[in-house]
Amino acid sequence: MDKNIDITLKVWRQRGPKDKGGFETYQLKGISQGSSFLEMLDVLNEQLVNEGKEPVVFDHDCREGICGMCSLYINGHPHGPDSEITTCQLHMRKFDDGATITVEPWRSAGFPVIRDLMVDRYAYDKIIQAGGFVSVNTGGIPDANAIPIPKQDADFAMDAASCIGCGACAAACKNGSAMLFVSAKVSQLALLPQGKVEAARRAKAMIAKMDELGFGNCTNTRACEAECPKAVSISNIARLNREYITAKLQD
Ligand code: SF4
Ligand code: FES
Repeated sequence: MDKNIDITLKVWRQRGPKDKGGFETYQLKGISQGSSFLEMLDVLNEQLVNEGKEPVVFDHDCREGICGMCSLYINGHPHGPDSEITTCQLHMRKFDDGATITVEPWRSAGFPVIRDLMVDRYAYDKIIQAGGFVSVNTGGIPDANAIPIPKQDADFAMDAASCIGCGACAAACKNGSAMLFVSAKVSQLALLPQGKVEAARRAKAMIAKMDELGFGNCTNTRACEAECPKAVSISNIARLNREYITAKLQD
């Protein structure tokens, strides 16, 4: 049964992109273990406002694991200590009474800090803009079953499409690589007939943009896969590499 707990929070505070930043410590009492992590931060902010202090800036939108906005590093893990969930799906019952919880923003060259716990994840949008779409004319809507797609391909494409662009993969990677994200976006299209046509060109353009934006190379540490809230598999990276080699051979 959920109970109320007292916790100590060590929260990264940074006034802007150029500020050095540092941790500040806050005590919170009587937090319901039934509340979500973001609700707990709401309580912290209410407390700070009541004390005449600046509330902590953090990103969130849907609060139900869909939008990918809640980019927090909690106790050394992107999205916290639980697996296959986003920060907004994390509940305080994961923490014990008297726990000390460290909260940081994503740390990655590709995601500069805007303020406190909020980072600029626009780099992922730019990678999508570089090629994460279908631009060939696919005609009208075909009759059902007119284009048979193997069940396995459809399943893999759906799994890849579950990527919410949260950025945990790059934040977890010691090289700051965005390969899991790029591979998910390439795979969800490359596995289906409409996306296959441009698959190689797409992979090349998205990887070039990823490199240009300062993301690192993949060395197969699998940290991205371990921390991904949607369990996106690194087998997608192998598919991305295949498409990339195909594009290079076509040059
Ligand atoms: S691959 Fe996973 S960790 Fe990376 S952006 Fe997509 S959902 Fe987030
Ligand atoms: S706030 Fe949308 S996924 Fe967490």
